[in-house]
Amino acid sequence: MKIAVLKETRAGETRVAASPETVKKFVALGAEVVVQSGAGEHARFADAAYAEAGGRISPSAADAAQGADLVLKVARPGTEELRVLGRGTKLAAILSPYGDPDSVAAYARLGIDAMAMDFMPRITRAQSMDVLSSQSNLAGYKAVIDAAAYYGRALPMMMTAAGTIAPAKVFVMGAGVAGLQAIATARRLGAVVSATDVRFAAKEQVESLGATFVTVDEEAMKEAETEGGYAKEMSEDFQKRQAEFVAEHVAKQDIVITTALIPGRPAPKLLTEDMIAGMKAGSVIVDLAAEQGGNAALTRPGEAIETGGVTIIGFMNVPGRLAADASTLYARNLYTFVSTFYDKEKNDFVVDWEDEIIKGVALTRDGAVVHPAFAESAPDAPRPVEAAPADEPGAETEAPEAAPAANADAHVEPGADGAAPVEDNAGADAKN
Ligand code: NAI
Repeated sequence: MKIAVLKETRAGETRVAASPETVKKFVALGAEVVVQSGAGEHARFADAAYAEAGGRISPSAADAAQGADLVLKVARPGTEELRVLGRGTKLAAILSPYGDPDSVAAYARLGIDAMAMDFMPRITRAQSMDVLSSQSNLAGYKAVIDAAAYYGRALPMMMTAAGTIAPAKVFVMGAGVAGLQAIATARRLGAVVSATDVRFAAKEQVESLGATFVTVDEEAMKEAETEGGYAKEMSEDFQKRQAEFVAEHVAKQDIVITTALIPGRPAPKLLTEDMIAGMKAGSVIVDLAAEQGGNAALTRPGEAIETGGVTIIGFMNVPGRLAADASTLYARNLYTFVSTFYDKEKNDFVVDWEDEIIKGVALTRDGAVVHPAFAESAPDAPRPVEAAPADEPGAETEAPEAAPAANADAHVEPGADGAAPVEDNAGADAKN
């Protein structure tokens, strides 16, 4: 059983699919692990650390993938990368198939058994394999850190001899995994935090973190959660009332962090141009939904801009901005997934196609598309996310078009002294 760990090629992708820790564990299971040289470079995992863990370092992707039974990656492979995978190879990565439904047909055509880790079912048994959770958690933390870097004031209340500084008001929209971590982080930094979500279950979680839950309609929220724990798209009436309420609330905030997503759909637009214009000068919006089109009207994917005194941060691949931790957790998710189906006697990754986990993640098998969302026969196949950045397989340098922002007048730099450069982390998608 040979496992290959490839170096990511997509622009801005800093993560790696295995850590020295997981390589060691795979080797202990009985697998042979080959790591492409430099794969862990951005996550600070040196080739030598992988070698010490029992991995073999390979000079190229083609060499690493040669004869591999299982290829581990972070982002969806491009055409060049797919070319090095032999027929019958299993591939596990964040494949974001809604962002490029054609890629699913390509895996089938090439005889690759593709498994989308971002489709991990939300069941207790799969919790430790849930890559969206592990990555969103870090993104939620980093969103607050980014906001703090651009916000020209302190977050906690400070009582000094020169007088008192009021605490920052932080509003988190979407209280899923990223939102809850953003709330916890902002609270730790001393901010006064409020949050909203369309799912009723979020209310108690928000309150347990010491934040205030705000909403327009608790009754409508009770219907808003799918069996899988995700949000449904809300009615027009709800969206209208939510918008009126949000306009009033955001005008009083210093930092707004948006994380609202609906699987397979463009991100809901929660902050209109008028709402942004109504915000205080110096306030900061961090739009974690930038890759799915953004929750804020003026977000430019991959950039931080300033418009009317309001900074809007739309960085891409936010987990990748914490490459070492994001890789460590992602690698553990993958190890748990693979080891669950690893047959030690046969020394092989034996996929049980009837298992709920495999049924959730498997896109293709033996040259056929098997996932119902992408099988042509599926009557209610979800539509692809129209607003997702175009990323054809093979787009080695994926630089999403920046949406023109009407009132955006300047790029901004964090901190009053502008010491740190504006970061453009465009390129990789953690979640289609
Ligand atoms: P997500 O990333 O798909 O969406 C983020 C949040 O945005 C969600 O809470 C969603 O309800 C909210 N949202 C959508 N439309 C909105 C709107 N118009 N206004 C305000 N908020 C809106 O969701 P995520 O973070 O992946 O988690 C969803 C749920 O799944 C959470 O309750 C989480 O705790 C649960 N979960 C369960 C797991 C398990 O049981 N194994 C694992 C991970 C998460």
